[in-house]
Parts: sequence; C-alpha cells; structure tokens
Amino acid sequence: MNTYIFISDLQKQLQSFADANWSIGFVPTMGALHAGHLSLLRRSKKENDITVCSIFVNPIQFASQSDLTGYPRMMEKDSKLLTEEGMDILFAPEVDEMYPPGEELQLDLDFGRLDKVLEGKSRPGHFKGVAIVVKKLLDIIKPTRAYFGKKDFQQLNIIQHMVDTLKLPVKVVACETVREPDGLAMSSRNLQLTIGERQLASRIYDVLMFTKANAGSIPVKKLQMMAQKRLAETPEFRIYYFEIVDNRTLLPVSSWADPKHIIVCTSVSLGGIRLIDNMELFS
Ligand code: PAJ
Repeated sequence: MNTYIFISDLQKQLQSFADANWSIGFVPTMGALHAGHLSLLRRSKKENDITVCSIFVNPIQFASQSDLTGYPRMMEKDSKLLTEEGMDILFAPEVDEMYPPGEELQLDLDFGRLDKVLEGKSRPGHFKGVAIVVKKLLDIIKPTRAYFGKKDFQQLNIIQHMVDTLKLPVKVVACETVREPDGLAMSSRNLQLTIGERQLASRIYDVLMFTKANAGSIPVKKLQMMAQKRLAETPEFRIYYFEIVDNRTLLPVSSWADPKHIIVCTSVSLGGIRLIDNMELFS
C-alpha cells in the first residue's frame, strides 16, 4: 500500500490512474478502523479499479476540544490493517495540509433544515465541518464513487444533498450498518466506553428493534413515546433524541402512510460518549 501525506504527491499518482481511465473508489474515514469501515473498503475494492482510503480526524467537525483530543487515533494499527486488506492507497494528511493556515474555511451551501435537526440540534456547525472536509477530499481525489455508511444517516443525506446541489461528478454509495454480535452499531467511539457501558450500549439496538417490531401497528407518536420510555429505563443514558422521521427530509412523520421512507434515528450519550444509530422501519 502506498501512503501519502501530501496532496500534490497523491494527485500525481492519481493522475496516472485517471489517464489510464481507471475507476477510483474513495472511502473517507477518521481512522480507528473497525469492521464497519472495512465493509465500505471491501465494497469499493470490488466496484473500482483502485481504492483510496483517507484517514483524517477533521478538527472542524468537533464541537469541543475535549471531544477532538479524546478521539481515538491509531495510525500504525490502521495502516497495518489496510495493508492486510490489500488496500491500494492511504491518504493521511496533517491538519495544516488540509487547512493551510490563513486559508478561509468556506462552503457556500445551504442545507435548509437538514443540518439543523437531529444531530444538528445539539452539534451546531458539525455538518458544515463534515461537508467542508468531504468537499475538499472529493476535489483532491476526484473519485468515480465515494462510499458512506448508513450508520451516519444524516451525514449521508447531507453529503448526497451537497453532491446533487453542486453537481459534483461522483456517485455516492450508501452502505449498510455493520453491527457487533449484540446489535450495537460499530463505531470508533465504542472504544471509549468502559466494559460496563459497553454492555449497556446494546440496549439502544434493542429499543430500535422494539420500534421496528411495532411500526405500523401502534400510532407513530405513541410508539415513539413507548420507545423513549424504554430507553430512559437505563439511567446511564442521556437521550438527545429518539425520533421517527422521513429519510429524505429528516423531519418527524405523523403517520405510517409512506412506509418505505420511514426511519428511526437516535442519539444517546453514555459516560459522556455520544452514540448514534438508526434503523429503517419497513425494510
Ligand atoms: P468515520 O466515523 O470514521 O466513518 C467513516 C465512514 O464509515 C462513514 O461513512 C461512516 O458512516 C462509516 N461507518 C462508520 N461506522 C459504520 C458501521 N458500523 N457500519 C457501516 N459504516 C460505518 O464519518 C466520518 O468518519 C467522518 O465524518 C468523515 C465522513 C470521514 C468526514 O470527516
């Protein structure tokens, strides 16, 4: 595997692939790689001539300094894993390479309500930070396809919106959520949980499954309240939201009339670690 830390070196290499008309798959990550990331990488490898993985802990998408410094970093382990996976290219820039001092951080794009609801309510600026870095990475790499997990559903929705609005020449590929055996969605943040918290965390999945099992047969608002009550039975959880929404607008639905677009999204923090998850209710 070739690792690049400078944009210009990476681009020189990628230009030769573009000249040969090779398709380029791209999987952006913040590292601390787990099986969820690997599923995206494997899919990209299958669908493209060459795959680029990026590892960059993007400072401008973190709301607090402590969240940023606490984010797990394990470049050596990640790099070894990527080599074992037969990955082609790793792009792992430093912060100054992505954000040269003095350069203005701008993205002239209005996401409407999409970045204000759910995660956006308690993390103002988070999705702007995500969109800025993804746009920069897409501009640098110019991939044929870029892979994102449904685990971060709102992020996926916002990136798709950005790609559509700016008519970026890339296909966004949405990948299924990979879960631990007990149902907890895999996340780099799971590493920050204590053993006890890790055991409790699977209750988020249990409540999502409860919601799915009853979707359509109990009125939406009533089911949402019953599910919220179940979550609240674990006093260690701080519940930011648990909402049944339309997967296009991310706004609450009031009936089951349009089942194929209904999804439940939740965010819970446990010992100060924020976990998010979601589930399509009628798939
Ligand atoms: P990160 O959390 O490292 O996730 C990188 C990609 O892996 C995202 O598309 C995410 O949705 C996907 N992913 C994470 N956990 C997953 C799981 N359990 N199953 C399937 N896919 C999963 O998301 C980010 O990084 C950043 O915001 C980024 C897009 C890289 C921009 O900085």
